[in-house]
Amino acid sequence: MATTRLFSPLQLREVVFRNRIMAAPMWQYAGRDWRPTDWHLMNLGRLADGGSGVVFQEGTTVERRACGTVGDLGIWDDAAVPHLRRLVDMMQSCGAVPGIQLMHAGRKARQKPPDEGRGALERSPAIADWDAWDVIAPSAIALAGDGAAAPREMTLTDIQAVIDAFVAGARRAAQAGYQVLDLHAAHGYLLHTFLSPLSNRRSDAYGGSLANRMRLVLEIVEGIRGVWSAAHPLFVRLSCIDGTAGGWEMADSVTLVRELQRLGVDLIDCSAGGIAGSPLPAGQSARYGYQVELAATIRRETGVPTSAVGLIVHAAHAERILQEGACDLVALARELIHNPNWPLDAALKLDDDTGYRVMRTRGSFWLERRAATVPGLRPSTVGDGA
Ligand SMILES: Cc1cc2nc3c(=O)[nH]c(=O)nc-3n(C[C@H](O)[C@H](O)[C@H](O)COP(=O)(O)O)c2cc1C
Repeated sequence: MATTRLFSPLQLREVVFRNRIMAAPMWQYAGRDWRPTDWHLMNLGRLADGGSGVVFQEGTTVERRACGTVGDLGIWDDAAVPHLRRLVDMMQSCGAVPGIQLMHAGRKARQKPPDEGRGALERSPAIADWDAWDVIAPSAIALAGDGAAAPREMTLTDIQAVIDAFVAGARRAAQAGYQVLDLHAAHGYLLHTFLSPLSNRRSDAYGGSLANRMRLVLEIVEGIRGVWSAAHPLFVRLSCIDGTAGGWEMADSVTLVRELQRLGVDLIDCSAGGIAGSPLPAGQSARYGYQVELAATIRRETGVPTSAVGLIVHAAHAERILQEGACDLVALARELIHNPNWPLDAALKLDDDTGYRVMRTRGSFWLERRAATVPGLRPSTVGDGA
């Protein structure tokens, strides 16, 4: 039995998360021909075995032109399904709820990976389908500072194709067995660029007023809900604020979240920024839990469950955030790179009764047995009991 909030189960629709820890989506830049490789199996497997309640696969692209860079994963053809099912089976066998994030890079498509400095990719014979990798956006406004030409302004036909691609992606995700879907509408990617007045200057039904700028996201959510099981939760990741004058603001997020709830969205994955520079007030640098307040505000104003993300590093902090009612899940990304077994450590540090049984596989047996051998033994990551 869990004795902390962090390790108390959470049920959304018919899916039960064994605890409140969410492994946030993280691109691996390791796909081959848009398919997962053994790296993905290992990486998602170790996150799931480490005890996270829900593990999200990286932002997976819904059409060819949706790819941010070489090495992304794609879900735009039926042949992707068996490759993805392998990842799902691994996550599930470790006791984690398997999640997938669906995304479209929009004007952040066709970029260099971070370890090559980002910025626009150059045409290369190694990318045989370069011309199919069209960089599209609501308006022809270039991403500041990446040296790329302005993206092509989308036609209504492009918009319909993108809606269809997200819905088809969700249908394939369901076929592959994922139990939670996170729609990426944050970080300056395509859906966020429709929401923000800084990147959307359209004069048709998809631009201008707040209602028009929200239209694409709402149409996609409605379409996804039509193919995504009513038993399975749907999350939306939002940049709750742009943090730039004239941009998307918290009041806009609150309005959008109320609409999303009406359409069957179960949780808002609360992030920030990505359209223009840092979302932090000028001169401020990130601190522990720097985006928690966003999740708390959305939860308080709308009553919709939230997850908080951003420099949540320590178990006691994660527990406190949950106790204070800021969110329903704590999402970790980089700390899980450092330590995929963070949930296991957190249970020991918080003295939660779940103890080593956070890990569902054979490991918990051996760790419990070892602990019984030497009274007071603590793992190296938890404390020096010697
Ligand atoms: C290597 C890496 C890849 C990421 N890929 C994604 C992604 O695919 N989708 C997404 O929404 N966020 C992505 N993010 C952002 C994280 O999900 C998270 O919001 C951010 O890192 C802040 O959390 P942290 O302080 O716990 O790392 C990525 C972050 C990292 C470090």
